[in-house]
Amino acid sequence: MQQVTFPVRVMKLLGLKHLLVSNAAGGLNPGFQVGELMLISDHIDLFPENPLRGKNIDELGPRFPDMSEPYAEALQQKAHSIAQAAGITLHSGVYVGVQGPNLETKAEYHYLRVIGADAVGMSTIPEVIVANQMGVKVMALSAITDLCSPGNIKKVEIAEVLAAAAKAEPGMTTIMRGLVKEL
Ligand code: HPA
Repeated sequence: MQQVTFPVRVMKLLGLKHLLVSNAAGGLNPGFQVGELMLISDHIDLFPENPLRGKNIDELGPRFPDMSEPYAEALQQKAHSIAQAAGITLHSGVYVGVQGPNLETKAEYHYLRVIGADAVGMSTIPEVIVANQMGVKVMALSAITDLCSPGNIKKVEIAEVLAAAAKAEPGMTTIMRGLVKEL
């Protein structure tokens, strides 16, 4: 976890103010389609390890960082306006992070939906925790690459995941570019 998040620390020390993140995620919300985008409004951390564990370096941030707004509201609003102006469908929802690397069972997908998640993935949360600890504002987008809602669950083929990511790419690029212009 410390290795995964080290680049965020380096970028912060180089002057980083905003972190724009993207990932591939499974859609738990039955309203989501493959290839669509979800703006992450909040997250649930189910990773077994935390990047802040161990002795805290106080110069980098507090021991117990606040996580009441892990994804900056102002950046979310900007992302929504950019998507709307460009005619891009942009869902909003809660991302749950799991370790993987295996995908989830049907019972696990059900559990993740019940605890309040709209999409599931195996990344992002460690970097977002570290960014928040250091006062960096975050915006994160998930490309929905497979469906994990009841009745839609099938074997995940990597080729299909890549095709779905490719489908999501133009919209994601438009939102990212638009945001960079406005920051
Ligand atoms: N589960 C976990 N991570 C994922 C998934 C999924 O269904 N799809 C893409 N990343």
